Amino acid sequence: MTDSTNQSRVTIKLLEQMKKNGEKISMLTAYDYSFAKIIDKAGVDIILVGDSASNVMAGHETTLPITLDQMIYHASSVIRAVERALVVVDLPFGTYQADSKEALRSAIKIMKESGAHAVKLEGGHLVKDSIERILKAGIPVMGHLGLTPQSIYKFGTYTVRAKEQKEAEDLIKDAKMLEEIGCFSIVLEKIPNKLSEKVSSSSRIPIIGIGAGSDVDGQVLVSHDMLGMNKEFSPRFLRRYLDLDTLITKAVKDFSSDIKNRKFPNKEEQY
Ligand code: KIV
Repeated sequence: MTDSTNQSRVTIKLLEQMKKNGEKISMLTAYDYSFAKIIDKAGVDIILVGDSASNVMAGHETTLPITLDQMIYHASSVIRAVERALVVVDLPFGTYQADSKEALRSAIKIMKESGAHAVKLEGGHLVKDSIERILKAGIPVMGHLGLTPQSIYKFGTYTVRAKEQKEAEDLIKDAKMLEEIGCFSIVLEKIPNKLSEKVSSSSRIPIIGIGAGSDVDGQVLVSHDMLGMNKEFSPRFLRRYLDLDTLITKAVKDFSSDIKNRKFPNKEEQY
């Protein structure tokens, strides 16, 4: 089995190799320099500058409001921190659906102004032309199927997708198509394990799951969720590795109380 941790840079070739060798791929979101630096140094393979920044960083209810320039601001901050991981940036809502020329312009703007390594966009056959045009320009594309949060108002809920046979069959077709036109990887969000296993075992490209079970080639989570910074969001698939909300709250309370009680700064902490 290969060990990607020895590689100084994660490339698309390396991810392909990892899939071939059965080595699982780790992926986390980051939106700023400080978090990205820690996540990269800890050895995560792919850093996603997700449009979840709209929720996590800006406090919007959905991913729809974030703009291309805001994504580029987040992505360029992340890029300045990263030495090893492959950095993928989400094309935000409204920057690739109208037509393929606009999609290409959006992808080029992200690559030029942020220094990112690849883009991700949501959807299958409906955005095929856009993906093909971006790929033709030499920009690597990661697909995203299943629960696609940019279409939340079409579906109305964030529940598990593709439980019905027709939707499952459509997803399989879309995944095949994304692989055939040249996407280097696909994110499958919130779909049954059986279905994601079927897609993963029949594809040559790495399939990364979020709420899609264990039988895929890698896993992605929103870093603020897995670090326990958002107590209101508790889907079944989320594992919290830290309770950062409690830790930060305690630190901030201690700081405040030390000031009020004239304990900070002490003699050693001044000039
Ligand atoms: O924007 C995001 O964070 C994502 C992940 C949930 C895959 O697309």
